[in-house]
Amino acid sequence: MTTTASQEAFLQAFHAERPAVTAEAFGRGRAPDGRSSYELLCERVAGRQRVLDLGCGDGLLLEFLAQGNERQLAGVDLSPQSLALARRRPALSGARLEEGRAQALPFADDSFDACVSHMALMLMGEIEQVAAEVARVLSPGGVLACVLGGGAVGGEAYDRFLGLLRGTIEEVPASQRIPALGDRRTRSRNGLDEVLAPAGFAAVDWRTVPIDLSGPVEQVWAAVSSLYDLGRLDGAAVEHLRDAFFAGVRDMTTAEGTVPCAFKVHIATAQLHY
Ligand SMILES: C[S@@+](CC[C@H](N)C(=O)[O-])C[C@H]1O[C@@H](n2cnc3c(N)ncnc32)[C@H](O)[C@@H]1O
Repeated sequence: MTTTASQEAFLQAFHAERPAVTAEAFGRGRAPDGRSSYELLCERVAGRQRVLDLGCGDGLLLEFLAQGNERQLAGVDLSPQSLALARRRPALSGARLEEGRAQALPFADDSFDACVSHMALMLMGEIEQVAAEVARVLSPGGVLACVLGGGAVGGEAYDRFLGLLRGTIEEVPASQRIPALGDRRTRSRNGLDEVLAPAGFAAVDWRTVPIDLSGPVEQVWAAVSSLYDLGRLDGAAVEHLRDAFFAGVRDMTTAEGTVPCAFKVHIATAQLHY
């Protein structure tokens, strides 16, 4: 199996069990202006009629895009289980939802005015091929707008969780570790430029926004423990991590029982040359 194939097999198996995990964990996250990262992404493609969601998962972003707009919407994802949930959303009854790979998009040339992707582009292997496929299905002047994970803000529960997770991953046997996912270049502005420019995109617009996920400890644990890295840990390792997390955030919990938690997202937008 190639590296990309084994990464995709892991992602498919993970989402077969957890088809709505990202929307459940991050849908309630809020930027400083009160909007979710899904809503921030919608703003980037305002006025664009034909929109493709790359790695659409259970369709939450597409549902936002459908609100109050007569758009032609499409989504593609590796996971049939996530797509089944997307198809159950009434707002997406007219959307074209396809099982497939971003590296071989099942759409004709010039089909879309915009392509969006929420927390998915940074997971994809053969990223030059993804860029070429997005450029192929976009019309000239079309826009690619992505939300990419940017790590912990620091000094809050997600930061502490990542420290504990690193320790756990070091201790478990290799069989409980997941394959490295995606291409690191998608995590920085310069790296993304390097990937997108050869496919015909202009320089990337790059913003970093903190997303607040604070809440009761159970809720914060549900969010942080949805990371792919836990996907192969056995029950004992997860329980150990959970206990360490609950103990580790006690000193930062407010009198009202709120655990401060935040992560950063990068919002990257690039326009295809005319
Ligand atoms: C972290 S989830 C995000 C789901 C959704 N965009 C959201 O934010 O709620 C990443 C999604 O990307 C999909 N994905 C990853 N690599 C892919 C690829 N090469 N082609 C199509 N979908 C892919 C996964 O199956 C998964 O549903």
